[in-house]
Amino acid sequence: MCGIVGYAGTQNPVDFLLRGLRMLEYRGYDSAGIAVQDDAKNLRIIKAAGRIDALAQLVRNYQPQGQPKGYTGIGHTRWATHGLPTAENAHPHTSYDGAVAVVHNGVIENYQSIRTTLKQKGIEFKTQTDTESIAHLIAYYLQEDKSVRTADELHRIVRLALTQLQGTYGLAVLFRDFPGIVIGAKLGSPLIFGCGSGENFLTSDASTLAGYTDKIITLADHEIIEMTADDYTLHHRDEGIVNRSIEVLDIDAAQTDKGGFAHYMLKEIFEQPEAIRNAMRGRLDYDSATAKFGGLNITAQQLLAVRRILMTACGTSWHASLVGEYQIEMLARIPVEVEYASELRYRNPPLDQDTLLFAVTQSGETADTVAALREMKRRGYTAMSICNVIGSSIAREADGGIYLHAGPEISVASTKTFTSQCTVMALLALYLGRLRHLNFENGRRIIAELERLPGLIEAALQTNDAVKKIAQKYAACESFLFLARQFNFPAALEGALKLKEISYIHAEGYAAGEMKHGPIALIDKNTPSIFIAPKSYVLDKTISNMQEIKARGGPVVALTTEGDKETPELADDVIALPEAADFLQPIIYNIPLQLLAYHVAVERGCDVDRPRNLAKSVTVE
Ligand code: AGP
Repeated sequence: MCGIVGYAGTQNPVDFLLRGLRMLEYRGYDSAGIAVQDDAKNLRIIKAAGRIDALAQLVRNYQPQGQPKGYTGIGHTRWATHGLPTAENAHPHTSYDGAVAVVHNGVIENYQSIRTTLKQKGIEFKTQTDTESIAHLIAYYLQEDKSVRTADELHRIVRLALTQLQGTYGLAVLFRDFPGIVIGAKLGSPLIFGCGSGENFLTSDASTLAGYTDKIITLADHEIIEMTADDYTLHHRDEGIVNRSIEVLDIDAAQTDKGGFAHYMLKEIFEQPEAIRNAMRGRLDYDSATAKFGGLNITAQQLLAVRRILMTACGTSWHASLVGEYQIEMLARIPVEVEYASELRYRNPPLDQDTLLFAVTQSGETADTVAALREMKRRGYTAMSICNVIGSSIAREADGGIYLHAGPEISVASTKTFTSQCTVMALLALYLGRLRHLNFENGRRIIAELERLPGLIEAALQTNDAVKKIAQKYAACESFLFLARQFNFPAALEGALKLKEISYIHAEGYAAGEMKHGPIALIDKNTPSIFIAPKSYVLDKTISNMQEIKARGGPVVALTTEGDKETPELADDVIALPEAADFLQPIIYNIPLQLLAYHVAVERGCDVDRPRNLAKSVTVE
């Protein structure tokens, strides 16, 4: 969590820093701050509790000089881990002598012992954060070595401090006495260098560079970068200078604005037909009636030897993995297990060597998923990624992978990346199935179903007004159940997660058949049950569960298939969607659930894109 930005150039950095921090607010938004080095070798630090708007207000009213002016700066938006979200605990943190300012994303696990050592040397701490110790440590080494004059020597000092740290960091450091230099470092938290013309940038997320530069270097772990307005040097902490070629980024500023929608979440919901087209583009192979992937880096022979698939993920990505479990087991007949990454990383599951791992993630930076992937790789398993953010840690560390190509997802609540993940899972199931028992005719049938998907999603989006009315009707309820069977069961889990995370309503997703084993006790007239009940081989069973709810006075909202006459008779409210193949239903039926969560949250006056206590990318354990 947390977002960091840095600038070295010929312009006042304030505009870039504030704009970048606004775009990074999805990574954490409880407090924020900037440091700007002015011409007179002063570090101007401005920090605020709350959102970037509060910081921007302070920057506008900054006295006595007016807006701080300079040519280098760093900024941070925080998701608190150590210490309350106060202005004092906000970053940048400065050293005891005011010579160093640091912004940090990650967690320093041994900060207590560093604090103790530095306190013994007479250094006083002002905050409860782990980051403050980094600023003091760098300043301490700087003071110890008075010979430091050049950027290269500064880099040596930062490197020395980094060798003392255990944990994770994306860092940007500014120095009072060395104008024009910013140093960045990465271990475990993302850091990207943007190479401009007469100006250079650091950021946690390349999308903040849209409109500034499209040339980037994604730092790898243990790399340190020194940048000035017109130069940079990349080092490995232990191995000296690194020569890395610059990548050209394909990011359009329009992708990162709201495009006329009230919230990013609504924009991203409506982007789904296009996101799904992008997930499938170039991946359907008609001639062989299969799917194809460019980056899996694994041969058909090796895949035929796979006896078990293990998927690991968190949150929404875990739900998409469950959809994948149903799809792959049905189409490819390979056993699939889905494990929370936070559990897998500390478990020691007995696995055979013919197990293939998939780490499933939107951001590619989720700490638990990164750790689970590394642990499985350490144990010698082949590890793949299904990921949205290009060049993210998981995408780079996996042996091969599939990108979603869903474009930036800014809203904290995942929407288009869930449906894109489920689509990629279906393609994978087709590909693996066609390597095994699935015949040509069935392969073609599945391709035909997949091709209908963007159109079906467009139809599902047309339920927006009807869903909004249902949302208004039930927005005051404090508890919801989401129930479904088979392929749609993970979509019910996802529907409940979406509602609870953005509207703060208690919601549970259950397999409909499991509801009578406990959750039925929750049913009363104020607890709506949302049923995903499309035409399928389990519809009769789902209808029985609906009757059980109705018999106990609970309101029922049913998502049904157009033309179904029986199910709507039981429900208080109905949303009808076009008929679709069972393995694609969780994608289509998830759309009204996303819209329901969205409209309920708006109705309740919640901050849809930045729900309380959450962050988009969870880079802590
Ligand atoms: C859901 O809306 C959340 N964004 C959250 O559950 C998320 O899916 C989870 O933190 C995993 O993130 P990832 O896909 O980036 O790894």
